[in-house]
Amino acid sequence: MSDSPPGIDLMQTLTVNLGDRSYPIYVGDGILSKAGDFLQRAGLRGKVAVITNPTVAQLYLDTVHESLSGAGFDVTPVLVPDGEQHKDLRSLSVIYDRLIAERLERQSCVLALGGGVVGDLAGFAAATFLRGIAYVQLPTTLLAQVDSSVGGKTGVNHQEGKNLVGAFYQPRLVLIDVAVLQSLPRREFIAGLAEVIKYGVIEDPALFKLLEEEIGKLTSLDRALLTQVIATSCAIKAKIVEQDERENDYRAVLNFGHTVGHALEAATHYQKYLHGEAVGIGMAQAAAISAQQGFCDQRSLERIRKLIKKAGLPLEIPREVSMQNLIQSMEMDKKSAGGKIKFVICTGIGKTRFHALSPGEILTALGA
Ligand SMILES: NC(=O)c1ccc[n+]([C@@H]2O[C@H](COP(=O)([O-])OP(=O)(O)OC[C@H]3O[C@@H](n4cnc5c(N)ncnc54)[C@H](O)[C@@H]3O)[C@@H](O)[C@H]2O)c1
Ligand SMILES: [Zn+2]
Repeated sequence: MSDSPPGIDLMQTLTVNLGDRSYPIYVGDGILSKAGDFLQRAGLRGKVAVITNPTVAQLYLDTVHESLSGAGFDVTPVLVPDGEQHKDLRSLSVIYDRLIAERLERQSCVLALGGGVVGDLAGFAAATFLRGIAYVQLPTTLLAQVDSSVGGKTGVNHQEGKNLVGAFYQPRLVLIDVAVLQSLPRREFIAGLAEVIKYGVIEDPALFKLLEEEIGKLTSLDRALLTQVIATSCAIKAKIVEQDERENDYRAVLNFGHTVGHALEAATHYQKYLHGEAVGIGMAQAAAISAQQGFCDQRSLERIRKLIKKAGLPLEIPREVSMQNLIQSMEMDKKSAGGKIKFVICTGIGKTRFHALSPGEILTALGA
């Protein structure tokens, strides 16, 4: 790309094509310290509110602040507490208070520096403040880099459920620096890999094969490989979002492994598993159901199970989780309509179809 700043090795650029809301994603090693240049070249000016949390701020805020100031931006850091329990209306209110106190205007922008929690919060704040100002995603977890920072789903939790308040609102720019994964706790990194494996299963046999061959190199954080795998993952998500931005239909394919995964998270009160770990189990079980229903061959099922295991993710539903609890959680899932769930079936590596199944049928298929 000729309009991107120099000095970033092996950088990959892609675009999410959504008409006048299209935006670029840059993936590379060392992008953080050039954030100011990227924002400037994207046509942004003036005030920037950097939304982050104390954990990420301690590691990366100075670098981002310096880069933005150096490019002429007027920077306001806004810290929200770390943790999913703080993805709520209260944190949102703290953000609005600061944006108002610092007199951000329609031309100002918000930058999300953190994982999916910060990204969802900052995106929703940007979607609603002054009826919408520009925002930039600078995701710092693997999950946020390959999933939540792309596609424009923003929002907060409500005590009655996750992500109940939100908006579809696309960022102006996504900046992915693979170097920040160095400081990410290993368990978080492995959990993020579940979404990468998901992309291989639903869309991309070549990505799946690459993961089978190179998962060790990936978990040892080889930066060139990370750049390639993250860019490929983002490209797959972008392609799906381009076809169905508001999840009327096809975007639901991204829920592969998530029906059982979400139910397991809920049944274990969001305490036992990170999201990606539950999705690891959910994908293994979804593949088993796909085979059991006659859609998926045994060899593909074995390859999926083997890769999930090799990545260091769990495969089995633990015995202490009651099947009754799982059914209840599935019935509560907003994706179920008319008693049946639009279950994402895998019909081989890289291929899917939807199949309507009731929670009871899902559990029977699981052999419960
Ligand atoms: N918008 C979407 O499309 C979408 C998709 C998937 C998930 N999500 C949301 O994303 C959230 C989960 O995101 P997450 O998994 O990134 O969790 P998270 O944001 O809670 O981050 C996990 C932990 O890692 C820390 N951290 C972040 N970057 C770090 C780094 N580079 N080094 C060290 N520590 C770091 C965070 O402070 C946090 O403690 C959920 O709220 C989920 O609903 C949204
Ligand atoms: Zn997920």
